[in-house]
Amino acid sequence: MARTCLAVVLAAGDATRMKSSRSKVLHTVGNLPLIAHVTRAAAAAGVSKIALVVGRDAALVAETARSGHDVPVATVEQTERKGTGHAVLMAREIINEGFDDIVVLYGDAPLINPESLLAAISQRASGADIVVLGFRAADPTGYGRLIERDGELIAIREHKEASADERAIDFCNGGVITFSGTEAASLLEAIGNDNAKGEYYLTDIVEIARTRGLKCVAIEASEEDMMGCNTRAELAEIEAVWQARARHAAMLSGVSMIDPASVFLSHDTELGNDVTIEPNVWFGPGVSVGAAATIHAYSHLEGADIGPGAMIGPFARLRPGTELAAKTKVGNFCEIKKAKIGAGAKVNHLSYIGDAVVGAGANIGAGTITCNYDGQNKHVTEVGAGTFIGSNSSLVAPVRIGDGAYVGSGSVITLDVPDNALAIGRARQETKPGRAERLREKIAAIKALTKKA
Ligand code: UD1
Ligand code: CA
Repeated sequence: MARTCLAVVLAAGDATRMKSSRSKVLHTVGNLPLIAHVTRAAAAAGVSKIALVVGRDAALVAETARSGHDVPVATVEQTERKGTGHAVLMAREIINEGFDDIVVLYGDAPLINPESLLAAISQRASGADIVVLGFRAADPTGYGRLIERDGELIAIREHKEASADERAIDFCNGGVITFSGTEAASLLEAIGNDNAKGEYYLTDIVEIARTRGLKCVAIEASEEDMMGCNTRAELAEIEAVWQARARHAAMLSGVSMIDPASVFLSHDTELGNDVTIEPNVWFGPGVSVGAAATIHAYSHLEGADIGPGAMIGPFARLRPGTELAAKTKVGNFCEIKKAKIGAGAKVNHLSYIGDAVVGAGANIGAGTITCNYDGQNKHVTEVGAGTFIGSNSSLVAPVRIGDGAYVGSGSVITLDVPDNALAIGRARQETKPGRAERLREKIAAIKALTKKA
């Protein structure tokens, strides 16, 4: 029979060093909140339930923790911060529902991978009472040290309590600890707070278990996987690791990046085969790019569905609700928002297309603007298939330009244009022969007069 596992995710810390008005676990990596990385990893490892221990922003943290997977999440509040052991005990009632395994995770360590969790759980299945995920720290200062003897873990010593000999150990507690669901409550209740910080240290559970004859082991994970976030500088380091991994995976899946280090991806970025991404491109949440599309340098994309073979940028901005069909072109200094652009249509230079539907093969001239907002409401512009919109036109919504229509450059279009009609909405040009010279003389005379005065 499959084992049942409860993940207890700790997310109630004060996080004072983040100097933030919101909970630390709502800060993002790859545009996904830290807490969602952790709960999704737990779900991917197959846990049966998640107990979330929260402090501030409880409702939003809980909602975020539930997104993107279907494992039930129960929340408990820790109103006073009394240490990791105390935090886990907040979930006592849920623990007592009865699980084979309890795995404790930190909400601020988003790089934890499901394979490491599975490795820990499988050690439990093969006879270890407590399994701790450790890592070799380049600089172990501040971490709990894993003290081993004869292949077993005999204690975790917090840095502040550690002797000089113990501090020389570089094998550190990564924060993931698994133990038996049936013994959990009794082990946790035995933890005291007689230590340098006056906190209930979860890590004391190892020595307590040893006095009861239980077997504890540590297994090694990579230092990167165990990275936790205490400051915004550490958040940026975690982001760098996450981005490097995401770019590497994208390249292995058939995406070309000329200068990968300058490309920023989101957790949900979808990139098709043979997509090319030039330097300095930012992918916000919700972008998918079809096969063989090219994203030129300095483009800023979010909430956009980009069809196969499309050419975007350089310097394009795609905002949420953008849907570009196959082989569309959106060129430099164009902004597209909540607009569908049909197959093969071109918006090549300096345009704003918002709240619009543009038909296949349309050509939107340089500087075309959809005037979608009247100060109170947004209105829709419809541009038919195969239309030609002359440069520097303003399309004042709501307005419809029919299929195959032609709009003269510099037009301000306020009325619907039927299919195949030519619309010109600008003042007729007047040309006055010889008047330039007279005008020049007049200006010079005025200038001379004002100088004398
Ligand atoms: C902890 C471990 C240490 C380990 C290190 C790895 C303990 C006592 N120490 O130290 O061995 O090497 O993590 O990063 O466990 N939290 C609560 N409520 C509390 C206290 C903490 O929810 O009352 C949460 C925090 O939000 C955080 C996590 O628990 O997500 C760890 O707490 P933190 O204070 O950062 O522990 P460390 O001192 O880093
Ligand atoms: Ca920490």
